[in-house]
Order: sequence, then structure tokens, then C-alpha cells
Amino acid sequence: MDDIIDVKGLVKTFGDIRAVDDISFGVRRGEIFGFLGPNGAGKSTAIKILTTLIRKDSGDVIIDDLDLQTQADEVRRIIGYASQEVGVDNDLTARENLYIQCRYYHITKERSKQKVEELLKTVNLVEAGDRKLSTFSGGMRKRLDLATALVSDPQILFLDEPTTGLDPKNRKELWDYIRGLNHQGTTIFLTTQYMEEADQLADRLCIIDQGRIVEEGVPEDLKAKMGGDTITIGFREDGPTILAKAK
Ligand SMILES: Nc1ncnc2c1ncn2[C@@H]1O[C@H](COP(=O)(O)OP(=O)(O)O)[C@@H](O)[C@H]1O
Ligand SMILES: [Mg+2]
Repeated sequence: MDDIIDVKGLVKTFGDIRAVDDISFGVRRGEIFGFLGPNGAGKSTAIKILTTLIRKDSGDVIIDDLDLQTQADEVRRIIGYASQEVGVDNDLTARENLYIQCRYYHITKERSKQKVEELLKTVNLVEAGDRKLSTFSGGMRKRLDLATALVSDPQILFLDEPTTGLDPKNRKELWDYIRGLNHQGTTIFLTTQYMEEADQLADRLCIIDQGRIVEEGVPEDLKAKMGGDTITIGFREDGPTILAKAK
């Protein structure tokens, strides 16, 4: 199998905390791969190691045949990353934020201007492009974050909890963007706290808890395994929903 990301025995500790505790997995070229886990599971730590932002304690990471340890610069050239924390400047407009990001990647001024417009279009922010981010809703910010991660035309896109905090409508919209990018050939590694999101987006996923991989496979199988833990509550449309609302 042609794995674009190959991770073996990855470990990262912070003092006594084993944030990432000996994990191994592979991501196939062209797929959407998910890390599903609760707060504190080690998702962000893992993604920050893979995107070269923090150093691993031990283990081997190969990304597109590049060794993360010795070829971090080359790795950076082929990846994009949207962090869990918002990575943009509130006092600037969406256009300005994207333009700065383009220039950071040494894209020419002329091309940067074009690219900013293309990206705003991709995430449906053309109209809002000249508004300061301080006036943006959560959904708009997440979309701008995604656009920012796309500036470098990455082969692999890392998204850390791309929809946490969004309402269902915005979440579905972002899912569509992510699927669209994947259809155009971008390999996507994403983390989430939501089984539904992993189920909707991921071709394959790992369930991670306390720094360890506890399950891995296709969403279908994992859902079936965990089926006993899921409770679905619904109301008949002609039923007394007013009672449900009152509670
Ligand atoms: N810079 C840090 N210093 C100390 N502890 C950290 C640091 N970053 C993360 N941790 C700890 O590592 C564990 C995993 O955190 P994190 O990777 O952020 O999990 P997740 O993204 O799944 O919520 C947590 O216990 C967290 O408190
Ligand atoms: Mg996190």
C-alpha cells in the first residue's frame, strides 16, 4: 500500500504526561484519515509533531518519503495546517490575512492577489473579504483558517478539530469543502471529538485515548463495535414535541 504518512512508535511526553504514547499508523495517499478522541487524548500533540511544530521524543515519521527528523523543511513545503487555535490576526481583514500568508510562502505580489481571490471564492468569503476578522462568526473564522492552510497548495492537509464549536449548518458546509478538496486529490488528516464527523468524512480512522490508539479501522466497523454505547433520541413529528421543549 502506498502510504503517504508512515508513523512508527511515536512518543511525546510533557513531564510525567505521556501525551502521545507509542502510536503507529499509516495514512494512504488520497484518503481522508481521522483521529477521533476526547479532550486530552493527544490529538493536537500528534498533529503538531507531524506538522513539524514540536519535536517528538522518539519514533519514526516518514511523510511522502521524507524523514521528518532530517527533512523537516521539505516536509513543510508539501503540507498545510489549520490549527485548533485560531491562527489569524483579528485587526486585519480576511483579504489581508490571506495576502500576508501568501507572501510568507514567497508567492509573488501579483500571484498572491490572484490567489487570495481564488481562496476567498473556495470558502465563500468573497463578500466578507474586506471585513475585519473581529466581526467574523465562528463559522467564517473556521473557513478562513481552512483557506489559510490552502495557500501553499498542500498535498497533505492537516486539520485539527476543523468544526469544533460550529453549529450544524456551518459544520455541514465545512464538511463539503473538506470533501471537495479531497476529491481534487488532497490527502487529509483530521482530528475530531465527534463520531459523526469521523463517520461522515473519514475513509479510515483511529480512536485515540490517553495517548494510545485503542481502535482502528473503517467508520462502519468501529460504529458497529461501539453501537451499544449509542443512544438515539427522536420525536414523532405529530407527537407532543411541546412537552419535549418544555423540559
Ligand atoms: N505544551 C504542553 N505542556 C504540558 N502538557 C501538555 C502540553 N501540550 C499538551 N499537553 C498535555 O498532553 C495531553 C494531550 O493534549 P492534546 O494533545 O492537546 O490533546 P487533544 O488535542 O486530544 O485534546 C493533555 O494531558 C495535555 O494537558
Ligand atoms: Mg486538541
